[in-house]
Amino acid sequence: SVAALLANQHLVITAGPTREAIDPVRYLSNHSSGKMGFALATAAQQLGATVTLIAGPCQLPTPVGVTRIDVTSAEDMLAAVLTAVPSADIFIGCAAVADYRPATVASHKMKKTAEQDELALTLIKNPDILATVSNLTKPPFTIGFAAETNDVARYAQSKLVRKKLAMIAANDVSSSAIGFNSDVNAMTLYWHDQQGLLKHLDLPEADKLSIATQLLQHAVKLKN
Ligand code: C5P
Repeated sequence: SVAALLANQHLVITAGPTREAIDPVRYLSNHSSGKMGFALATAAQQLGATVTLIAGPCQLPTPVGVTRIDVTSAEDMLAAVLTAVPSADIFIGCAAVADYRPATVASHKMKKTAEQDELALTLIKNPDILATVSNLTKPPFTIGFAAETNDVARYAQSKLVRKKLAMIAANDVSSSAIGFNSDVNAMTLYWHDQQGLLKHLDLPEADKLSIATQLLQHAVKLKN
């Protein structure tokens, strides 16, 4: 039955933003609400999966029956993912991971000075959590997200290949009606068939829980 579609499956899902410390009181982050990742966790649990939700800082209630692990930075998120993922059948990277973090974290609050009108912050690249998972010796079925403002299809397809994903969900975040803090979304799923041909499926605008359920139903079809 539909209710048992993900029975015996362990899903690990990342959600929300990451927060990268500058000093004890300041950080770099982004506007991710975590809603899509939490909707995926809710949908997966409803479909019978065991769900581990690894969440950056976000103000959302933990979905019923889901194990939630709260993290702050990208490095914390990677560590939590690497602990959870060896037992995962499916990994979904839905978090908006900060691409860069401050190269050093000041141990005291940085002070402004009368002389200094400019301040340069040196950033270094964060680990790519999704690519780290897909490059494991025995990777789970790995699904990524691509939020883009332009050339959505082209960027999504190149990420599918470059990050060695089983599937990618692409959404256009230039439209304020969908994506980020919205309760609705629309996306296109891309994957390669057994002949290596690029395939796609449009999921038209719907509430995030419905989009999440459709995404998971499609992932199970591809995986089996
Ligand atoms: O390359 P880009 O950041 O657009 O790729 C987006 C996808 O990669 C998302 O699935 C996101 O969760 C994942 N990602 C990640 N770790 C990063 C950057 C992105 O897992 N450092």
